[in-house]
Amino acid sequence: MSNIATAIVLAAGMGVRMQSQKPKVLHAAAGRSLLEHVLSQLSGAGISQIKVVIGHGGEQVKQHLWGKSGAEFFVQDEQLGTANAVEAAQISSLRGTVLICNGDHPLITKDDYRQAVQNFNDSQCDLLFVSARVKNPKGFGRVVRSKEGRLVAIREERDATSAEKKIDEINSGLYVVKGEVLQELLPLVGNDNAKKEFYLTDLIPLALKSKKNVVVGQAKSVRVCRGVNNQEELAMAARALYNRKNRELLNSGVVIIDPQNTYIDSDVTIGAETVIGPGCVISAGTTIGIGCNIEGHSHIRAAKIGNRVDLRWGTVVDQAEILDGAVVGPYARLRPESHVGREAHIGNFVELKKTQVGARSKVNHLTYLGDAEVGEDTNIGCGTITCNYAVDRKKYKTVIGKNVFVGSDTQFVAPINVGDGAIIASGSTITEDVPGGSLAIARSKQVNKTYEPKE
Ligand code: UD1
Ligand code: MG
Repeated sequence: MSNIATAIVLAAGMGVRMQSQKPKVLHAAAGRSLLEHVLSQLSGAGISQIKVVIGHGGEQVKQHLWGKSGAEFFVQDEQLGTANAVEAAQISSLRGTVLICNGDHPLITKDDYRQAVQNFNDSQCDLLFVSARVKNPKGFGRVVRSKEGRLVAIREERDATSAEKKIDEINSGLYVVKGEVLQELLPLVGNDNAKKEFYLTDLIPLALKSKKNVVVGQAKSVRVCRGVNNQEELAMAARALYNRKNRELLNSGVVIIDPQNTYIDSDVTIGAETVIGPGCVISAGTTIGIGCNIEGHSHIRAAKIGNRVDLRWGTVVDQAEILDGAVVGPYARLRPESHVGREAHIGNFVELKKTQVGARSKVNHLTYLGDAEVGEDTNIGCGTITCNYAVDRKKYKTVIGKNVFVGSDTQFVAPINVGDGAIIASGSTITEDVPGGSLAIARSKQVNKTYEPKE
C-alpha cells in the first residue's frame, strides 16, 4: 500500500434522508460513528494521509474526531456535489495515487480498500472504480455499458432512463485514481443534471473521452456498496456490524449463546472461553478476560472485566472495573469509577458508585455504596447505605477497613471511617468514626412492654 499517497473521504453531505439534525456521518453503528468506521479501516489498510471533507455540521464532525484520528479536515463551503467535495480537499498539490471514498459506508473493510488499490496497480490504469451487482439497485448510480459491454458512464438514479434504472451493476462510490488525472479532469466536471450538482461520477465519461485507461473493479461482496442514507440503512448496517463482530469473536473461541440477540460493539475485546448470554449489550471500550460467564441481559459499557468473572443476569456495568474471579449480580449496578477486587461478591440489587470493594469482600444484598472504600475480607450486610450526599449538596466519603463486619440495615452518615476488624451492629446509624477492633451499636434500646388486649 506504500504507493497510495492519500485517501479523500467525502463527509460533507447534508444527509437529508436521515431526517435528523445530526450530521449523517456522525450517526453511530455498533458503537462507532459511520466516519470512524471508515477512518479506522483506511488506517488498517495502511493509508496514513487521510483528508476528510466536511461541511454540513463540520465543526461537530471535527470535534467528534478530535484526538481520535490523524485525519486532516477540509471544508466544502456549499454542498454542490461529490466532485466539488473532492476539489475542496486541495488536490492541486497531490502526487501519486489517490483513493476516494464516501464517509457513509461503514461496512467496507481494510481488505476491500487494499483490493481496490491492488487491482488499480495490477491493471496499471489511470482510474478505477469499484462496482457491485445488487438485487435492488434503487438509489445507486448505475454502470451504463454499450451493447458490447464497454463502459460508457455512471448514471445517477434521478438522471437514468427507465431502461437504465433496470441495470443491476452499481457504483459503490470507491475510486482509485492518479493524482494528475484527477487534477486534469475534475475542473471539467459540469452540473448539467437533475440535481444541478457536480457529480464525481462524471469523471468516468470524461476520462474515457480523453482516452484514459478506466477499469471497473468488481466488488467481491455487496458490503462495499452498502452506504447509509436513511435510518433503515443505518439499522441494517449496525446489524451487519454486530454480526461481523459476533463471527470474529466466535472464531476466536468466545461462546455466544444467541448471536442474533447479542449486541457487541466493534471496539470490544473478549477473551476465549468466555460465555456471553442472550440479550447482552456490550458497548465500546469494554475489555473482558478469558473464562468469564456473562449472563443474559447484562449491559456493559467501557468497562474492564478480568478473567473468570461471573456476571449474573441483568447486571449493568458502566465504566467500572471488576478483577479476576469476582461474582457480580444478578441485577447489580456498577456505576463509573467503581472497582471490585479479586474474588469479591456483589449481589442482587446492589448499587456501587465511585466505590472500591477489596478482595474477597462481600456486598451481597440490597445495598447502596457511594464514594466509599471497603477493605479486604469485609462483609457488608443486607440493606447497608452510605449517606454520601449531605444537605450542603456535597459528597462525602465512607472508608471501611479490612475484616470489618457490617450488620444488616446500617447507615453510614459520611464522612465516616471504620477501622480494621470493627463490628457494626445491625440497624445502626453510624454518625461517628468507629475505631478498629471495636463494636459499634447505634440504635435505640429495645423495650418490651405489656399491654392490655382490647375486648
Ligand atoms: C453516491 C454516488 C453514486 C453511488 C453512491 C454509493 C455521486 C454523484 N453518486 O450517491 O453513484 O452509487 O454514492 O453509495 O457521487 N458529499 C459531500 N459533498 C457533497 C455531496 C456529498 O461531501 O456536496 C458526501 C456525502 O457526505 C457522502 C458522499 O459524499 O458521504 C456521497 O454522497 P451521497 O449524497 O450519499 O451520494 P449518493 O446519493 O449515495
Ligand atoms: Mg450515500
